[in-house]
Amino acid sequence: MSAPSLPAVPPHVAIIMDGNGRWAQQRGLPRIEGHRRGVEAVRTITFAARDLGVKMLTLYAFSIENWRRPQDEVGALMGLLEFYLKKELATFVRDRVRFRTIGRTGDLPAGVQKHLRTTVEETKHFTGYTLVLALNYGARTEVVDAARSYAAAVVAGQEKLNDGSWDSFRRHLYTADMPDPDLVIRTSGETRISNFLLLQAAYAEFVFTPVLWPDFSKADLAAAIASFAGRERRFGLTSEQLKPAAR
Ligand code: FPP
Repeated sequence: MSAPSLPAVPPHVAIIMDGNGRWAQQRGLPRIEGHRRGVEAVRTITFAARDLGVKMLTLYAFSIENWRRPQDEVGALMGLLEFYLKKELATFVRDRVRFRTIGRTGDLPAGVQKHLRTTVEETKHFTGYTLVLALNYGARTEVVDAARSYAAAVVAGQEKLNDGSWDSFRRHLYTADMPDPDLVIRTSGETRISNFLLLQAAYAEFVFTPVLWPDFSKADLAAAIASFAGRERRFGLTSEQLKPAAR
């Protein structure tokens, strides 16, 4: 049974979208066709998550390591991303979806950056539901960037060198103003975290599903949420401590 004070629906769901290549391969299609169908799943799941009561959805769309893929695949992914941003802006505004990113977006192609800036800017006032794309994201790189930012803040007198608290350090992560993910899902049967939100997922629940990302549906998301609801999250405490009578 889940702890009484914790929500049955995870406020923040993060997803490692995997299996586009295999989806295409199984059908004798080029890998990019799998990515194209993956974008359709992104659209479906963005709104499915909101319908199910999720407040924030973070999708791992392009990792730092993904640059090492064949150049034509990287180019096609960037093209899809630009097309997606162009097409989705009106939908985000209509449906009041706040859009934001995490990652070293400054290294993405100029055209993608331009659309990212516009989409972030035009949706920044929406408060009910947020879609976060992890783009050129890597958790280890995030730690390096945070350490650099923390050091600069110490030099500027904004942080204390001897503070040593997580609350101070986390202010320098890309996710400084985001809640930690409650539920992390990975599709396609792989059971790795692949440099995704390593620190933020410290107390997240994990669901691994064999479904390939292009096939991942609202029902699959609902099943992952149901699995989450049945778990007891202890955050380092004991079951007894979590019972109302013991408080
Ligand atoms: C993994 O499939 C998927 C990715 C490389 C990232 C996800 C990308 C998309 C869903 C499309 C672009 C997204 C947006 C928002 C425009 P894989 O290629 O690693 O699959 P495989 O392991 O079966 O080869």
